Amino acid sequence: MVVKKKVILDCDPGHDDALAIVLACAAEELDLLGITTVAGNQTVDKTTRNALRVLALIGEEVPVACGAERPLICELVTAPEVHGETGLDGAELPEPAFGPREKHAVEFLICTIRSSPEPVTLIPTGPLTNVALALRLAPDIAERIERIVLMGGAAREANATPAAEFNIYVDPEAARIVFTSGIPITMVGLDVTNRALLTPEEIEGLARGGPVRRTFARLLRFYATANERLLGIGGAPLHDPLAVAAVIDPAVLVTEPLYVEVELCGEHTRGATVVDLYRVSGRSPNVDVALDLDLRRFKELVFWALERVDRRG
Ligand code: RIB
Ligand code: CA
Repeated sequence: MVVKKKVILDCDPGHDDALAIVLACAAEELDLLGITTVAGNQTVDKTTRNALRVLALIGEEVPVACGAERPLICELVTAPEVHGETGLDGAELPEPAFGPREKHAVEFLICTIRSSPEPVTLIPTGPLTNVALALRLAPDIAERIERIVLMGGAAREANATPAAEFNIYVDPEAARIVFTSGIPITMVGLDVTNRALLTPEEIEGLARGGPVRRTFARLLRFYATANERLLGIGGAPLHDPLAVAAVIDPAVLVTEPLYVEVELCGEHTRGATVVDLYRVSGRSPNVDVALDLDLRRFKELVFWALERVDRRG
């Protein structure tokens, strides 16, 4: 009997977050306790609506709680150039089948973690504002969090600035709180997620599937075109689904325990994750940093999840 891992997905849908939701819902290994939304790719009203629309598309009733509308300190930076004005441009999705919970996402995180019979794995795939606020408001939850498997940062790559990855760059202070929390962390950064690419041919293959796959083919065409135009990436980088896949099947990643610091003050480097790759700092590792991936294994999981939700349709 599979013992399901209790998880909460904290996200900013966003095209890749949307596919992360599909994986989290489809996986028999996971017990998805809820989805919390945060401002990032788009404003939090849009990321919340998008999470609800993805759940309507796949016929799931996971609780959704709306979270922080801006970072802890700095102004919000969104990414309409990548995800469009809605945050999920490129395809028509159904209207939400239900609304978000009354509770703020931070309160939802705290209550759900406190009441879970087993420790919870958090999977943040957007800026870390909600997670940081929950840790500051209720420090006791740290011991009930098994691990934080986050999409964010990088050892050698960047996309928001020449030095920083978007999720960390949007709220570096929140990231500093999470990375210094003492909670076990797996950092699924651009070093591996920029290689987790769906090719244009694979996207067209989805278009020959059921309604969910056809919708994601449209979404991923839009997303791949934006990534090609902006970053010269030839395909759809599945940043967030890789973080979820790492919880479903840890063998999809190769990680190294390393010391990681979040830069807050650099004139040109604010938001960078400074990874001590060669262990020169003498500091003890605080993060398991993903440095390689099993791309075939990952893609098999992605295609399996999409086919499963289409079959259940
Ligand atoms: O840098 C990639 C990350 O930023 C992904 O989570 C994407 O959805 C955006 O939030
Ligand atoms: Ca995201």
